[in-house]
Formats: sequence, structure tokens, C-alpha cells
Amino acid sequence: MATTCDREVQKSNYLHSVSGLIKQDKDDQSQDIARLYDDWTTSYDEDLEKLTYKGPNQVASILAECSDSKDIRVLDCGSGTGLVGEALKDAGFTNLYAVDISQKSLDIAEKKGIYQKLVCDQVGKERMPFIDNEFDALVCIGCLGPSHISPVAFREWVRIVKPGGVTVFSVRHCYLQVTQGEEELHSERFADNFNEILEELRSTKKMEILTKENVPNFMGNSHAFVYAMKVL
Ligand SMILES: C[S@@+](CC[C@H](N)C(=O)[O-])C[C@H]1O[C@@H](n2cnc3c(N)ncnc32)[C@H](O)[C@@H]1O
Repeated sequence: MATTCDREVQKSNYLHSVSGLIKQDKDDQSQDIARLYDDWTTSYDEDLEKLTYKGPNQVASILAECSDSKDIRVLDCGSGTGLVGEALKDAGFTNLYAVDISQKSLDIAEKKGIYQKLVCDQVGKERMPFIDNEFDALVCIGCLGPSHISPVAFREWVRIVKPGGVTVFSVRHCYLQVTQGEEELHSERFADNFNEILEELRSTKKMEILTKENVPNFMGNSHAFVYAMKVL
């Protein structure tokens, strides 16, 4: 049986491995990412709890504020093991779908019985396996970043979310180069891409920003912005 000390070492190894991939910031690291999160599944929920991860509750309260109904069809994009789905369910949302690149994370999420359907797929520039306007809302928490989900996915989100629907997503300050500390995770490429694609979708009237909340200590001592965007 693993001791507390073993577990701490393991936890820091996973975080260290994620940071290592982020620092490489190469074009296609999807297999490495899938493998890493597959390996992390058994301790992921516990590790994130120790980091007092605010993402799940934050998204649930923002989505509740932006939605008239709790029956809306919501896609949890980068669902992982289902922490966000659990918070959405606790907030009363009942019609939840999941997509993630890590099959083992989806296996854990499936056992929680939160999602109607779970799909293993890479989210990015490729067409997602969903029809136009399939969802009323989409959430993506803790997943946008170098080596993870690229902001080019925003273009797919506006296709699969109905006009009038909402997307809620987080992005860590360090990826956008707006914070001191964690400098090694700064990515000019990611930040440029993020700002350019948001501006493209805003100026072509495909999306509008409803709110942008600054969340200090979003995960451990890492800060994030949480955006709510309306699809037009
Ligand atoms: C830090 S976890 C966040 C999971 C969950 N949203 C949460 O808040 O606990 C990042 C998740 O993004 C997934 N992921 C990373 N890159 C992805 C991609 N390109 N397509 C789909 N999922 C991806 C990983 O497998 C992992 O489950």
C-alpha cells in the first residue's frame, strides 16, 4: 500500500510531467498527454483536492447564473475524471456529455454516473464528432493551455453550441504571460493564438464575452481567468 509520503512524491511527479510537456510546447503532443492523464487517473481527484482546486465549483456557479434552465444540454470538454461534471450535477444540471483524450479518465468519469455519453477524442483543430448546434452550453475547465487544448478549438465550439448558448472556460494566467512566477510555463505562441482567435470570433460576431473573472489561487497557488462567452 502506498504511504502518504509515496503519494506526495507521485503527485509532484505527475505535475512535474505536465509542466515538462507544457515547456516543450510542441505541435502534436496528444499521445504524450493522453498517456500522462491515463497514468494519473487513480490519484487525480485526490491530488486536485489537496490543491484546493476551485475550477469545478466556479464553473457550476457561472453556468447557473447564465442559464434559465438546468435541463440544458452541456458538453464538458476535457472532462477528465468528471470533477466538473460532479459540480454541475450538484448544482442541478442533469443533461451532461463528456469528451476527453484520455480514455482511462473517461472510464473513471463513467463510473460516477454523471454523463449521458462519454466520447474519447482529441479536441483542437479537427472537427469534433458532434453535429452543428448540438449543445446549449460547453464548459472547458483546466484544459486550455500549451500541449493541451488549443484555442483553435474555439472555432469548433461556436459550431456545436447553439446561437444564444454559453461557453465557460478557464485559462491560467501563466499561459497568457500576465503573472509573475511560473515563468517557465509562459508560452508566447499560446498567448498569441488565444488572443488572436478570441478577437477573430468577437470581430466576426460569432461570440461575445459576457464575463471574465479573475480567480486567484485557482489551483494551488496558480491563478486563472474564467470566461463566460455567448455564442451569437
Ligand atoms: C487538468 S485536466 C482537467 C480535467 C477536468 N476538466 C477537471 O477540471 O478536473 C486536463 C484534461 O484535459 C484533457 N486534454 C488535454 N489535451 C486534450 C485534447 N487536445 N483533447 C481532449 N482532451 C484533452 C486531459 O486528458 C485531461 O483530462
